[in-house]
Amino acid sequence: MALDNESVFTWAAPPLKFGIGALQEVGAEVGNRGARSVLVLTDPGVAASGVPAQVVASLEAAGLDVTLFDRVGVEPTDDSIGEAIDFARAGEYDAYVAVGGGSAIDTAKAVNLLTTHDGELLDFVTPPIGAGRTPTEPLRPLIAIPTTAGTGSESTTICVIDMLRLHLKAGISHPALRPCLAIVDPTTTLTMPAEVTAASGMDVLSHALESYTSVPFDSKPAPEDPMKRPAFCGANPISDVWCEMALKLVGANLRRAVMNGRDLQARTQMALASTYAGTGFGNAGTHLPHANAYPIAGAVQAYKADGYPEMPMVPHGQAVSVTAPHVFRWTYPGDPARHLRAAELLSGRTFTGVDGADALAGVLSELMTDIGIPTRLTSFGYGAGDVDNLVAGAMKQTRQLSVVPRAVTAEALGDIFRAAL
Ligand SMILES: NC(=O)c1ccc[n+]([C@@H]2O[C@H](COP(=O)([O-])OP(=O)(O)OC[C@H]3O[C@@H](n4cnc5c(N)ncnc54)[C@H](O)[C@@H]3O)[C@@H](O)[C@H]2O)c1
Ligand SMILES: [Fe+2]
Repeated sequence: MALDNESVFTWAAPPLKFGIGALQEVGAEVGNRGARSVLVLTDPGVAASGVPAQVVASLEAAGLDVTLFDRVGVEPTDDSIGEAIDFARAGEYDAYVAVGGGSAIDTAKAVNLLTTHDGELLDFVTPPIGAGRTPTEPLRPLIAIPTTAGTGSESTTICVIDMLRLHLKAGISHPALRPCLAIVDPTTTLTMPAEVTAASGMDVLSHALESYTSVPFDSKPAPEDPMKRPAFCGANPISDVWCEMALKLVGANLRRAVMNGRDLQARTQMALASTYAGTGFGNAGTHLPHANAYPIAGAVQAYKADGYPEMPMVPHGQAVSVTAPHVFRWTYPGDPARHLRAAELLSGRTFTGVDGADALAGVLSELMTDIGIPTRLTSFGYGAGDVDNLVAGAMKQTRQLSVVPRAVTAEALGDIFRAAL
């Protein structure tokens, strides 16, 4: 570690209630925060699962005035989030409760930001895509109840938006966006379709792997202003613990959860893995598979995913995992020991340097085939002629690129996308 390198890492996570039955405590939690009126945000698919109705019942039993907004867009866009913001701006709410996957939780974060601040989404989006405006007013209490395992959005500072006219996904990230409480009840995930279980499970895996292999926090330059450290600080001893545990749990339980959605034990372990990984990546940071996922999801033309609403989209977990084996083959020289260890944690098998870059790439490809998730970019309709655009979109993801364990060039990214075709 050189003298002018960073010597400090940061760690933050919201308070957590985890366990079977935790959902029933949401009314008391919102009531305890002094709120009288609450807006519950969810999407139509989650609404049909019956979980939001249980949330509403708990809130009403606590004497709260409850309004339900059940039109959240899956893989939310600037338009769908705009509709939720308009709805919320027309009312007066003291608190928000998000029930659903990353789509509902991210939408609620944006609603919270844009009902406590004037202006529009793009003002707050991370540069160079948006203006990077930072929140100046206090936000309202937001309680997140994830029904997927999962994006980890319940513990992160991030809100991901599909910017329709720009044809790419962009993010808003600020500590003020982090929910004030995450209520994780594994029973809420029992109704998740197999395809959503597979995709969101690969998202968990990738959060853990990317954080675990991100650049070590103390190899980055010290910040000029210690009060303005970047949200992603790189791999550090605390996130490493969460990520290692998450990798082990995903390796042992994701196949089971996909094969039998009613397997409460596998569901509980995956909910734990998601919580661990969310806690780890919210601080260390995700890198290339997530940077690549943004243009892959943003530029889709016609692909429709089974198990998801009938509209063109590449679900986040599919967009993240399709380049992951190729990314980790390329990042292997950045830290061979970590890549081998990750392959061992995921598979329960032993690997040595002789297995090299193939170890982790191979374990990932096996798992993806077993759970039936697309392994090629051509599945989404992309061909060689799209690579330059995908590279350009990924190169804009400055937050992720800042923690990649090797220097990223457009050429290297092009090779990764071509290998995934
Ligand atoms: N904020 C973050 O930190 C972060 C991180 C990663 C991804 N994301 C974003 O999160 C979104 C993806 O979230 P996701 O993968 O959790 O899925 P999701 O919220 O998009 O839901 C996927 C589908 O599954 C259905 N569904 C979810 N839970 C269900 C349940 N229990 N029963 C029945 N149906 C259910 C939904 O109705 C929807 O059709 C993307 O927009 C992605 O960009 C955010
Ligand atoms: Fe993710």
